[in-house]
Amino acid sequence: MADVRLLPPNAELETKRVLKQLARSHRALAELKGFVSMIPNKNILINAVMINEAKDSSEIENIITTHDELFKAMSQKNYSNPAAKEVVNYRTALWHGYELVKERQVLSTNMIIEIRQLIEKNRAGIRKLPGTVLKNEATGEVVYTPPSGEKEIMALMDNLEKYINNDYDNVDPLIKLAVIYYQFETIHPFYDGNGRTGRIINVLYLILKELLDSPILYISKYIIRNKLAYYKLLQEVRTKDSWEEWILFILDGIEQTAEETLLLVKKIKNILEKTAEDINNILPKIYSRELVDLLFYEFYTKIVYIEKGLNITRKTASNYLSSLEEKGFLISQKIGKERIFLNKRLFDIVKQAGIYR
Ligand SMILES: Nc1ncnc2c1ncn2[C@@H]1O[C@H](COP(=O)(O)OP(=O)(O)OP(=O)(O)O)[C@@H](O)[C@H]1O
Ligand SMILES: [Mg+2]
Repeated sequence: MADVRLLPPNAELETKRVLKQLARSHRALAELKGFVSMIPNKNILINAVMINEAKDSSEIENIITTHDELFKAMSQKNYSNPAAKEVVNYRTALWHGYELVKERQVLSTNMIIEIRQLIEKNRAGIRKLPGTVLKNEATGEVVYTPPSGEKEIMALMDNLEKYINNDYDNVDPLIKLAVIYYQFETIHPFYDGNGRTGRIINVLYLILKELLDSPILYISKYIIRNKLAYYKLLQEVRTKDSWEEWILFILDGIEQTAEETLLLVKKIKNILEKTAEDINNILPKIYSRELVDLLFYEFYTKIVYIEKGLNITRKTASNYLSSLEEKGFLISQKIGKERIFLNKRLFDIVKQAGIYR
């Protein structure tokens, strides 16, 4: 069994190479933060970006679903596709974690336990029984046996919690993010869901440190693209003390994903503006900015959302959506008993930004 070393790491983290990359990562992140801060209705962007993250992060765990399935699972409570459901749970966990961090200004072990519980919809909590091992996916060989025993795990989590919430070491928060991510995966406090919970911790930490105001930056897609390196580098921090390579890997991921996310949110903002203009021209009688915002809140909408959102009758809301469909802004589909209206323009942009298979 592993003897997990306590934080802070006994190593030089701010090396020359790290500092060089750090500047680039911060620049990309600041640009994203700045752009998003100027957008009035941020929830629109957050929802769209988050659904892709939920999909990508779950995909690392081989929970693979399509955007079409997701849209059905999102719009219908008892839709029976377990993978799509789990992805929707992941997004719920992300939102919840974000709200907790905003409210309490800390990121505690209890919050982390709560977040995992939402992803997997079970109350297993911290591991109590031994037997959890990490294997090489290809060969089945055991590469790492995490610590066992609730007491030992809780002691390590306490140490991690202090490292997350106190900056006694004066190390840059993006470097700390890499350290926290490694340590969390190494403690591996849960039976399952450690990868996904760890990836949620990443974005919550950025919020906690005010490097982002909105939960909008995720490196899951980067990790999928570099999955072998990800596992190898995690392992080599342990076996070779190679902190520098791991930190550079994460910093590079932050830079790349910040750039990609900025492009995506710009696209979403543009298509929203363009759609507002088009509806105003083609259907001036029903146009309002609130209506357009509602159409972009998720990539689908329902009559009841328009009815409540605009405070109009069901009949009028239904007429609005029919007119929008007639003019090609929406495509409706009957799912279960309900008619769901897909915002095709938004849906296509979000889909394109996702992982392609
Ligand atoms: N050698 C290793 N050392 C430390 N952590 C590792 C190692 N190999 C894998 N891991 C971590 O374990 C995670 C998988 O754990 P677990 O199955 O509990 O999480 P998950 O969320 O279900 O899976 P996934 O990360 O595949 O989505 C990986 O994402 C990785 O972060
Ligand atoms: Mg798993």
